[in-house]
Amino acid sequence: MKGKFITFEGVEGCGKSTQTRLLKEFLENKNIDVLATREPGGPKISEMIRKLLLDPENKEMLPETEMLLYMASRSQHTGEWILPALNSGKFVICDRFYDSTIAYQGAARNLDRKMIDMIRVYATYGLEPDLTILIDTPAEVGLSRISGRAIDRLEQESLSFHKKVRQGYLDIAKAEPERFLVIDGEQEIGAIQEDIRNKILEIMR
Ligand code: TMP
Repeated sequence: MKGKFITFEGVEGCGKSTQTRLLKEFLENKNIDVLATREPGGPKISEMIRKLLLDPENKEMLPETEMLLYMASRSQHTGEWILPALNSGKFVICDRFYDSTIAYQGAARNLDRKMIDMIRVYATYGLEPDLTILIDTPAEVGLSRISGRAIDRLEQESLSFHKKVRQGYLDIAKAEPERFLVIDGEQEIGAIQEDIRNKILEIMR
């Protein structure tokens, strides 16, 4: 049996992490085996790459290096954790996956989309999410929610950068409506989770 692969996407402060946690609880209460994970990160090597990527000291990092490091982290994560979990029948919920690269490095940093697509197919062994949940939130709202906490290298980018990220996500969702569930991130946490659960129940039927 092959499990389902669900990814969460959105701008900083959109509430993905909370929703990932709530969905994990919901599935586990139904006795479903779940791997909840995040990108960049997961296994040891991917977490080491995460540190490099998010360290605010690494100001000189070039967009190409950045994109390739996200992909390298993803490749290890997919091969070491995600594919084995799916193959053993688990539900995998991942906080960010390759759509983050398309939105951040593609739409916001202006790297070539064709190149990103080529490398992401290679890095993920062709794996694509069964469902991607985009928690759509205006960049200003998301950034105001994270103000006050220590922010990483990407979060330090300008408001116009984060606006491009949001638009990048909306464009991908528009191009792939069958894979995406777009949810209004300005709703209450409970209402957002309810939309997510309804969609998951539909997929499981
Ligand atoms: P997080 O704050 O959601 O843990 O994500 C870390 C940061 O990395 C966040 O600012 C988004 C960024 N990111 C990319 O730029 N490209 C990617 O492919 C991924 C997975 C994350």
